[in-house]
Amino acid sequence: MNRYDINRRRALTLLVAGSASVAAGVTGWVTGLGAPGGKPAWVQSGQPLTEPAVLGGHAGALEVSLTAAAGAPIAGHASAALGFNATSPGPTLRVHPGDVLKVRLINRLTQPTNLHTHGLHVSPQGNGDNPFVSIAPGAAFDYEFAIPEGHPSGTFWYHPHHHPFVADQLFGGLAGALIVDGGPDLGVGAERIMLVSDITLDDNGGVAAVNAMERMMGRQGQLVLVNGQHQPLISAEPGVAQRWRLINACTSRVLSIHLEGHRLTHIARDGYFLPSPLELDRIALAPGNRADLVITPAAPGRYTLITEPYDRGNLGMGMGGMGGMCGMGSAAASGPITLGTVEVSGPSRPATPVPNALPAPQLPTGAVTVQRTLTFAMQMGMMQGGMMSFTIDGKGFDPQRIDQSVRLDSTEEWLVSNTSSLAHPFHLHVWPVQVLATSDDPTPEPTLRDVVLVPPRGWARLRIQFADFAGRSVYHCHILDHEDAGMMGTVQAAHS
Ligand code: C2O
Ligand code: CU
Ligand code: CU
Repeated sequence: MNRYDINRRRALTLLVAGSASVAAGVTGWVTGLGAPGGKPAWVQSGQPLTEPAVLGGHAGALEVSLTAAAGAPIAGHASAALGFNATSPGPTLRVHPGDVLKVRLINRLTQPTNLHTHGLHVSPQGNGDNPFVSIAPGAAFDYEFAIPEGHPSGTFWYHPHHHPFVADQLFGGLAGALIVDGGPDLGVGAERIMLVSDITLDDNGGVAAVNAMERMMGRQGQLVLVNGQHQPLISAEPGVAQRWRLINACTSRVLSIHLEGHRLTHIARDGYFLPSPLELDRIALAPGNRADLVITPAAPGRYTLITEPYDRGNLGMGMGGMGGMCGMGSAAASGPITLGTVEVSGPSRPATPVPNALPAPQLPTGAVTVQRTLTFAMQMGMMQGGMMSFTIDGKGFDPQRIDQSVRLDSTEEWLVSNTSSLAHPFHLHVWPVQVLATSDDPTPEPTLRDVVLVPPRGWARLRIQFADFAGRSVYHCHILDHEDAGMMGTVQAAHS
């Protein structure tokens, strides 16, 4: 039992065999606030899995143009969802360590926007991975991301990061995969990128508006999609291993991935390899997390890929009377959701095992010079307009303020504590973190990551090396409704 597997104290009892959950699994439709139980007729399900267009893939510079606009199809149906270059997810960007990635972002939205390369270890300054950039509706901006030679090869992603519109824009459909190529030969027969997102569309194909309660819990969409498709069919051959690059691009939903009849071979988290593969029955992914898995298809047949219910906690005391209204945010209200079906067919072949040693990153070295505590809190007392306050160290986000000053190239330990009864996925830009322990799990992780779920009324202890890049960036809750409500702070790395 460890953090790579789902936390059993948080996991609700699996109900796969129960008839109610089988029904939920079959429709894959999440019943939400006032929503009818059935899946809308326009939702197309069970099509072969497709992947977004790929841009790049060869060494050298990659120069692309991304237009953010409404009008991307969802689940095979025209909609007013948001997309990059008219698709949701947007095109997959493939680069190599040492490449320069140039992106012209054209804003055809009705709100300001910008672009974040989630997880990349690149400069946060100027036209780099700078979350303070603002691109007005109708305007364009030229980004340049210089990816260092030694950058890990792995699964990353991109999405808008303009405070306070991030939840609306991601939920609307704006996200895409960003793959840094290279890394060991895993001997797999196929590779799939699977970006999981959720969305709720209204009867006119528009993205549903959310109420104050959904903003507080973090909105969860009624349709859970893989690469913008509803319950696609994933073809496989017995014994022929597949590498899956899973990305949790949901605004607030924690995924707990399980494939019927199979074990998952976990090889990388958030773009960083584990030292050796880990066999799991299920893997939990907080919003923003990625997992690279190797799946070795079993005997011919159909196997359901599901996300199990995950209890993110609740809004805390005083909200008891609204318990029923929290249904959308509470995993207790829904059973497992079908993400897709793996269809295994063809002659059986002997399976090739995954290499036993993987290129895990170097963990933070050097003496820990500074220890900090960051406190994530939610308060009813400061409730305004029906919203509670979402703070870090008692403060809401202020882009002008520097909340943490760190010395470039130093190693620090951060204790992220959570006084609320809801789990918050802590995320830091630019500099990956090593999880030393959480209140649920004392085991130090043997690799790095960039999002860690801080348990309700719990904590996470992190070691961070502020290497390579000076400049100012942010850390925040990756329940993006919380980030938009102010649960974000700034960190500046500078010499001396
Ligand atoms: Cu994926 Cu600051 O975000
Ligand atoms: Cu990020
Ligand atoms: Cu949060």
